[in-house]
Amino acid sequence: MKPRSKILIIAGSDSSGGAGIQADIKTITCLGSYAMTAITAITAQNTKNVLSVIPVPTNSIKKQIIHTAVDIKPDAIKIGMLHSSQVVKKVLESLSQIKVKKIILDPVMIAKGGEKLIDDKAIQLVKKRLLQKVNLVTPNIPEAEVITGIKINSKQDMVKAGKKLITLGARNVLIKGGHLKSKKVVDIYLNKRDLKIFVSSRHNTKNTHGTGCTLSSAITTFFSCGKSIKSACELGIKYVNSAILTNPKYGKGHGPINHLNSILLDKRFK
Ligand SMILES: Nc1ncnc2c1ncn2[C@@H]1O[C@H](COP(=O)(O)OP(=O)(O)OP(=O)(O)O)[C@@H](O)[C@H]1O
Ligand SMILES: [Mg+2]
Repeated sequence: MKPRSKILIIAGSDSSGGAGIQADIKTITCLGSYAMTAITAITAQNTKNVLSVIPVPTNSIKKQIIHTAVDIKPDAIKIGMLHSSQVVKKVLESLSQIKVKKIILDPVMIAKGGEKLIDDKAIQLVKKRLLQKVNLVTPNIPEAEVITGIKINSKQDMVKAGKKLITLGARNVLIKGGHLKSKKVVDIYLNKRDLKIFVSSRHNTKNTHGTGCTLSSAITTFFSCGKSIKSACELGIKYVNSAILTNPKYGKGHGPINHLNSILLDKRFK
């Protein structure tokens, strides 16, 4: 089988392999596309905590993006962890040069163990300048709260925050409900005209490391292959749900999910 599309990932490295660039590459590969990378930071982490985050110099991030993209033009870009305003600025500069139309932003801010992964100036820049340039933004509940200033305790609050993100200039929003205390997991997709609530079974496990990175990469892959943003979200959510269900129970903290589950599920995605 040949890759169905080419995707550039701009994100941080997770040494434990469950989240970040590693989860992105696994997801994109397991869903049948070709992954390229621009690494923004190198973390030393395991399933229990993040030990250190070493930023990659911003000029090197720009070089990775431009030099890769001028040779193999990506069909889509997935943006993950951008830890500082300088990084956000370089990414904005790079995006305006390479002119790729399909861009998904996962505004990673806090690690599963609670560590803050982005500074306040970067959050402001993401809110004022990057949000408007992407096709879809996929905040989890704490990230949606930080960006919109709206406290989220319910499905209704998720919709309210989603609408606020649209007024801030986002074109499509998927607020992920993994952090909400609810029997079923609820993810809310919306734009100016449409609203869809995706309801999935909640798996009772602590092994959900990298669900967010995996979801945004899966959505980017489906979107790059021609699916609409909405159906890409639906397919991405199904992929993550099965990956959590079949997680390999690795590590003593929040273990990784099973990216390989698509190999069994492939028929469903055709
Ligand atoms: N226990 C669970 N059972 C089923 N689905 C889940 C569970 N936890 C999260 N999900 C799903 O995983 C996807 C990612 O949501 P989540 O809220 O965990 O993102 P995140 O907080 O950004 O993840 P990460 O911590 O990896 O950054 C969503 O589709 C969500 O519904
Ligand atoms: Mg996340």
